[in-house]
Amino acid sequence: MNIHTDVLIVGTGAAGLYCALNLRKDLNITLLSKSSANECNSFLAQGGISVARGEKDFPSFIDDTLKAGNHKNDKKAVKVLASESMDAIDNLVSLGVPFDSDLEGNLRYTREGAHSINRIVHCEDRTGEKVHSYLLKEALKRDNITMLEDSFLVDLITKNNKCIGGIAFSKNSPTNIFAKSVVIATGGIGGLFNNSTNFQSISGDGIAIALRRGIDVVNMNYIQFHPTSLYDGSSMNRKFLISEAVRGEGAKLLNVNGEKFVDELLPRDKVTAAIFKEEMKTSSNFVYLDTTFMKKDFLVKRFPMIYNECFKRGIDISNEPIPVTPAQHYFMGGINVDLNSKTSMENLYACGEASCTGVHGSNRLASNSLLEGLVFSKRAATHINNNIKPYSICFYDSTPSIEGDKDYYKKLFKNILIRAICDVRGDIVNELVAL
Ligand code: SIN
Repeated sequence: MNIHTDVLIVGTGAAGLYCALNLRKDLNITLLSKSSANECNSFLAQGGISVARGEKDFPSFIDDTLKAGNHKNDKKAVKVLASESMDAIDNLVSLGVPFDSDLEGNLRYTREGAHSINRIVHCEDRTGEKVHSYLLKEALKRDNITMLEDSFLVDLITKNNKCIGGIAFSKNSPTNIFAKSVVIATGGIGGLFNNSTNFQSISGDGIAIALRRGIDVVNMNYIQFHPTSLYDGSSMNRKFLISEAVRGEGAKLLNVNGEKFVDELLPRDKVTAAIFKEEMKTSSNFVYLDTTFMKKDFLVKRFPMIYNECFKRGIDISNEPIPVTPAQHYFMGGINVDLNSKTSMENLYACGEASCTGVHGSNRLASNSLLEGLVFSKRAATHINNNIKPYSICFYDSTPSIEGDKDYYKKLFKNILIRAICDVRGDIVNELVAL
């Protein structure tokens, strides 16, 4: 089957949806989702979204992002992130996203690791789910947007190093989707790991396709392990996240002997390293996150999902500490893009976790992920709006062809990604799912 569209967006997380919503309404947009539109890591983001507290906060927000990123960040991208953060939140508020606020309607800001002030807006502990649902609701209202679920991108269609579409299995049927611009927003690589907070289906497809097609991909070694996933004794399920916002609200990390061993609000990579060290020292597979000194009413109201999920698993977090351990959480590397989210291939853009704007350096600052997805997907949309060709290019180098079934591509992509990661990070080979 052949489909012709103006813009093909692959991925229905916050970045893919927000890109679609910021494109001109006279453009025909096709949005692909590998499984269902909700199965994306944006949906799982608990803590919140960072936002500069006015222009006077730009220098400190930039500084916090650079320090957390070990100064490996792209400074220009960090400046863009800070200066366009307020616009992103204003737009979400105008779409109706119910951020937590006080009785006068002022947004409540919380704090997380390595932020020097409270600058994180949130919807209880379901920020990603709420943001995603409002973006999706809006996208479904638009006549110019067609959503194809159960549609797995397996290759790009190219002509003279120009991207002119993608090939997908759409509900099992091989489908060529010709487009004037293509946006990869397929998310990160958590599905490659035994221990990850991500959906297992999010396994770096867009990045693998880029590697395969010689598109510039960078920083395959920049993999973030979140310090506090719920320890469940198994090694194969998606790990339930205990948001960093819990530490932001004062929760304490203790070793299995009840001793404090780290400043809970250091950057994530430092806290994770301290936990791994403490687990080795105490011959344990976990440490504790202690919330027992917090009022039950507060915990239930501020963190209802975490409270209920832990309760379901037999832990009353108002009475007993939570066993936690680090798990793969986020990928700071990805498809190399410029400040307009353009890749090294003409007509091809990438945004969200699949891309590397350089904004996060080697360690992302808490709650900067949804923000990056929003800011840089809007930039992609603006660039497309201003540059999209009025005509369609449908002459391709050769007839697009499928090389195998879905399983063939799943294995191929895993293989490509694991090799690329192990080339630079042999140390985490045991964390990766065996092929
Ligand atoms: C969290 O709530 O700890 C995760 C949010 C993020 O990754 O920034």
